[in-house]
Amino acid sequence: MENEFNGLKTHRVVGLNGGPRKNWNTATLLSEALKGAASQGAETKLIHLYDLDYKGCVSCFYCKTKENYLKGVCAQKDGLTEVLELLSDSTGLIMGSPIYLSDVTGALRSFIERYLFINLAYDPVSPSVLENGPAVGLIYTMNIPREYLEPYGYASLFKSHANLLTRLRGPMIKQLTCCDTLQFTDYGKYHAPLFDENHKKEVREKRFPEDLAAAYQMGVELAQNK
Ligand SMILES: Cc1cc2nc3c(=O)[nH]c(=O)nc-3n(C[C@H](O)[C@H](O)[C@H](O)COP(=O)(O)O)c2cc1C
Repeated sequence: MENEFNGLKTHRVVGLNGGPRKNWNTATLLSEALKGAASQGAETKLIHLYDLDYKGCVSCFYCKTKENYLKGVCAQKDGLTEVLELLSDSTGLIMGSPIYLSDVTGALRSFIERYLFINLAYDPVSPSVLENGPAVGLIYTMNIPREYLEPYGYASLFKSHANLLTRLRGPMIKQLTCCDTLQFTDYGKYHAPLFDENHKKEVREKRFPEDLAAAYQMGVELAQNK
């Protein structure tokens, strides 16, 4: 599909919610980021990965065969097929995920396996299939407070994601971390002495609006760098 920007891609930013909850921290930040992208004239689409039926890479190596390795196409036809097609001509991608057990969710990880692997070649001279992939944003939400990102190894996890995503050869990679999130509406219902409900509510009230503003700004910048 042609557009006014580069003649090849649609000025579209796709948001992928890698978390199961559709109205909580991750989804809310993603929606805000897409609003920012829309403010720059981008078409936007929010997809909830948990609505889709798919697996990670099954190691069939169709995308590495001599006939197909430059096509960036996955042989598995399932719930991700349309998403991968949509991304093939989109200028931006924003992935959001809660941190589950010190990593992104399995749903987002499986998506990344599929999307990255079809766009990589086992070729030291030309390891990326794409010449100009999408501008990429990553939004992470998590329980731990910001000061633990470094000592608990989260900062290096985020760095390794950024490093991996450079292989898409997009114009930019932006990451946003939203820490100390409100996890329940009523902490009184759960056995969770690890958390102080008042503190969580205060973070939600005072800090979350700043995270929303940062998400919006991320959307703006990704949409400008098509
Ligand atoms: C299965 C599971 C595992 C989790 N593991 C972690 C973790 O390792 N570190 C952390 O900081 N938060 C962890 N959390 C908390 C979530 O990352 C946090 O509540 C996040 O904001 C949820 O996103 P949501 O509000 O969009 O659902 C976990 C939550 C669940 C349900």
